[in-house]
Amino acid sequence: MEGIFLQDLTVGYGKPLISSLSAHMAEGEFWVVVGPNGAGKSTLIKTILGIVPPISGRILIHGKECTYSCDERRFLSYVPQMESYSHSFPATALDVVLSGLFPRLKRFERIKKEDVEKALRWMEELHLKDVADKPFSKLSGGQQRKVLIARALISDPHYIFLDEPTTGVDLRSSRKILELLDRLHKEKGFGICMVTHDLNFVWNYIDKIILLGYGGKYFIGKKEEILNEDLLSQIYGVRVKVIETEYGPVFLVGDKHL
Ligand SMILES: Nc1ncnc2c1ncn2[C@@H]1O[C@H](COP(=O)(O)OP(=O)(O)OP(=O)(O)O)[C@@H](O)[C@H]1O
Ligand SMILES: [Mg+2]
Repeated sequence: MEGIFLQDLTVGYGKPLISSLSAHMAEGEFWVVVGPNGAGKSTLIKTILGIVPPISGRILIHGKECTYSCDERRFLSYVPQMESYSHSFPATALDVVLSGLFPRLKRFERIKKEDVEKALRWMEELHLKDVADKPFSKLSGGQQRKVLIARALISDPHYIFLDEPTTGVDLRSSRKILELLDRLHKEKGFGICMVTHDLNFVWNYIDKIILLGYGGKYFIGKKEEILNEDLLSQIYGVRVKVIETEYGPVFLVGDKHL
């Protein structure tokens, strides 16, 4: 059984944030998780990744029971929300990329020459080779995010979970990050699950959406079913207008609070 199954999953910290969520992420799909601040987006992906234990329900990865821990979790990698990174981090960009291998290394095993070459290949793919030796803390926000994406890629994942990879990134760099994810998704068959607030960026790339609201409310489905004026207005509590353009739909927030 391929893919990731969430069965009646209730997530939160003691008190449920999301109740009885069921979903199947097939291998090679592109998902986004959207919803207002504090709805539980980060918590949901941390639960799937095994960082936060679920309150109840089950998680199956490739048919294996993974609710708490399992070997199949090695197929998943994670690009955390930016805030969790220290800005005075002394490591170089290359060190940060290589640190993506640490969970895979056996005790006393060291980074090998092939690992460094692999890291540099990913950095080249992400146009980061020139900054490989620079301190991570001295890179721009967009470069730092791309370094964290390279770090997630080096462990040969089947699925990449990204928490707001375009927040605070300029328009062109955000587009580039999306294009890169799209390329990885289409050419290499990676499954992608991305938390975002940038609805206008993602439309052309994504397959499915999880829209989370407050009070455990959620909607899951194809983008056309979920990203409509009624559901978005209901979840965000402001009037949202969807305008069709040649680039796809654009989501505008009106001045009326509901
Ligand atoms: N470690 C924790 N322990 C207890 N409560 C937490 C913890 N982490 C987050 N929370 C709370 O859980 C709720 C959901 O947080 P979460 O980070 O999942 O929201 P989010 O949807 O990702 O929000 P944002 O859009 O702001 O990133 C918030 O009310 C938050 O304060
Ligand atoms: Mg979050």
